[in-house]
Amino acid sequence: MAIILGIESSCDESAAALIGSDRTVLAHRLAGQEEAHKPYGGVVPEIAARAHVQVLTPLIEAALKDAGLALDDVDAIAATAGPGLIGGVMVGLVTAKALAMAAGKPLIAVNHLEGHALSPRLADASLEFPYLLLLVSGGHCQILCVDGVGQYRRLATTIDDAAGEAFDKTAKILGLGYPGGPRVEALAKQGDPKAVPLPRPLLGSAEPHFSFAGLKSAVLRAAQSGAHRPEDIAAGFQQAVVDCLVDRLERALSQSSSTHSPFVPSEVEGRDRKGSRMRPSTSLGNAENVETAFAGATPGKPKTLVVAGGVAANGAIRSALEALAARHAMGFVAPPLWLCTDNAAMIGWAGAERFALGLTDPLDIAARPRWPLDPEAEAARGAGVKA
Ligand code: KG4
Ligand code: ZN
Repeated sequence: MAIILGIESSCDESAAALIGSDRTVLAHRLAGQEEAHKPYGGVVPEIAARAHVQVLTPLIEAALKDAGLALDDVDAIAATAGPGLIGGVMVGLVTAKALAMAAGKPLIAVNHLEGHALSPRLADASLEFPYLLLLVSGGHCQILCVDGVGQYRRLATTIDDAAGEAFDKTAKILGLGYPGGPRVEALAKQGDPKAVPLPRPLLGSAEPHFSFAGLKSAVLRAAQSGAHRPEDIAAGFQQAVVDCLVDRLERALSQSSSTHSPFVPSEVEGRDRKGSRMRPSTSLGNAENVETAFAGATPGKPKTLVVAGGVAANGAIRSALEALAARHAMGFVAPPLWLCTDNAAMIGWAGAERFALGLTDPLDIAARPRWPLDPEAEAARGAGVKA
């Protein structure tokens, strides 16, 4: 069994984990920065980076102690190398590089989004590639075909805000504070989801993407009107997000492909240095829908619907997706709550998956503020920042 040290520092959680290639979580230590950012109602990048500097090394030491291991017992060191707040990413990556150099261990630069995307496989040994993934976090909202490690095809993304961002902004508008998602969810439980009429942007649209900016503005107007109870606004908002997520996934799942694209199996596709899939020039580019995208891997639809990322911790969203999967006779996998929000176990696990394939990185690899999982995906209308 290989043992991987995972390090996460891309946003406001500093974390270190020791993960076995047999899916054992040998140790996991996490330090949130809630108090430090609370006065500002959101994450302040400089404060986050400084906090990572202070806590990361003690966290790694504590994780090693918890697991009863020394650095020498570790087979590789994996750290988030992007995307994220660049100061924090650099702190974690430089720490990993220093440890790798000192201990003579291989370095694995992990895409944080790949950490989320593969985290369900840490939780569920039976989850096989390919699967259809809804990746919903504070910075992203995407539907992806996950064909393998480093092999992602993006079917949809947000043209403005991410789902988690919408939760956080709604929390701010309702005066619930930060972090917003869990607080909105808690308040929504006491409200009536039908009491406040709120829009469902892009619902039923032929365009595959998501949009949440209009919903956020409607929440602001509803709150400012003084006509509604905050719990009803929270419940109405959450239901609108659920409806949008389900509608976009329904679209991806039920759109039948009139002309099957000449999908090229992954074995014959080119790979770049980090194992990202590179489309041959004959490829159609953006996969149009699930059937097209999965045509070469499995006939027809994918067998499993998977959700990952911080927003996947939301109970209403999990239930709605489980029901959606059942309607389509698909399996459903959602990681346990602690594995949905940012953590180092998913980085260690992504490291373990890469290590098993011999995918390691040079010590001069750079931290990346942006790092799309599918670099070939066409830009969505109005996107750019978050796509
Ligand atoms: O994946 P994550 O921990 O960090 C990023 O990579 O962005 O996701 C954080 C996001 C935040 O926007 C947070 O409000 C949201 O996930 N979140 C939730 C819940 N727990 C966390 N959103 C809705 N319901 C929740 N229970
Ligand atoms: Zn994340």
